[in-house]
Amino acid sequence: MNLLTIETTCDETAAAVVTDRLEVLSSVVASQDKLHERFGGVVPEIASRAHVERVLPVIDEALRKANLKLADLDAVAVANTPGLAGSLLVGLTAAKSLCLACDLPLLAVNHLQAHIYACRLASGVDVFPCVGLVVSGGHSNLYRCAGPTDFSRLGGTIDDAAGEAFDKVASLLGLSYPGGPSIERAACGGDPRRHRFPRPLLDDPDRLDFSFSGLKTAVRYLVEKQGARSREQGAKKPRKSISDARLPAPNRVPSGWLPASAVADIAASFQEAVIDCLVGKSELALAKIGFHTLCVGGGVAANSRFRERLEVSAKSGHYTLHVPPLTLCTDNAVMGAIAIERFRAGLVEDLSLDIGPGPERAANQ
Ligand code: KG4
Ligand code: ZN
Repeated sequence: MNLLTIETTCDETAAAVVTDRLEVLSSVVASQDKLHERFGGVVPEIASRAHVERVLPVIDEALRKANLKLADLDAVAVANTPGLAGSLLVGLTAAKSLCLACDLPLLAVNHLQAHIYACRLASGVDVFPCVGLVVSGGHSNLYRCAGPTDFSRLGGTIDDAAGEAFDKVASLLGLSYPGGPSIERAACGGDPRRHRFPRPLLDDPDRLDFSFSGLKTAVRYLVEKQGARSREQGAKKPRKSISDARLPAPNRVPSGWLPASAVADIAASFQEAVIDCLVGKSELALAKIGFHTLCVGGGVAANSRFRERLEVSAKSGHYTLHVPPLTLCTDNAVMGAIAIERFRAGLVEDLSLDIGPGPERAANQ
């Protein structure tokens, strides 16, 4: 079986061809990072227009790389939830059109479940049952994953997602978008113990939730305080700050006045605080559910310090850890192969399939 999968939930236009034996015949990802960079975050209108321009060329390229024609396909899968409405609609419309024109079955993909399924693809072994942690730009959720079509949400962020916190703090520090990789790079030379930022909810043994907005505010106060101090101390001309360039004058954050070493310490301390929360709650979920496997997915799982900390945790906690390679952590269409499991379970859609809720209403996804 040759499955074409389409992914347009946020700001990557992606398509892949995978077989029912989970062989990846092709994978194409057109990133929009450059389009959103100067805004410090994804602008939904720009994202959906870029998807419209790119979705057909990306599908064509995925078929060409797989050395297949439309007639060789056996099904089309599309991520229809959660995500930005305009973005989701582009992928869904493309998928439905192909199914209608080529008389192919249509399969639905939950983007968050697909992030966890990336662990199944990468490891080549059955990872279920497992606890799943999805940490991306829009979500930070923990799941009880009994099987590839049986997910239930255990908890998640009550405000910002982990990736969103990385993006916002990077902006405060004048680092480039997307914030995760920038913070990771800046943190390399910093001291993670220099600042003790809050770890909200971490000590609450009854909750499998996260909260990152207070942490972001704590960073903001520190940046303002330290920035003002170094300005008073006669710091030289400010470094060019990306956040400053975007903000109106009265709201400018004085991160440009911070020396690179101060930025590095803040980035490292912030990163460590986020990782403490993610690792701590994953351990708690494993203990509560009684599973012995943790699967981690989403863009934040590309963070090497996080991966390192997870490995240490798995070793000391005697559980099996799966984290995909970097290309399968950030958004891609290969992980849409989870649709093969739905096809096997008889979960085929008709052309009335709609998009699901966006991040803000996807509390139970
Ligand atoms: O899963 P993803 O590619 O898209 C969504 O579904 O949101 O995740 C994107 C998020 C962004 O917030 C980005 O800053 C974060 O993942 N990210 C990282 C790293 N690489 C990407 N966060 C921390 N460290 C990284 N190396
Ligand atoms: Zn994602």
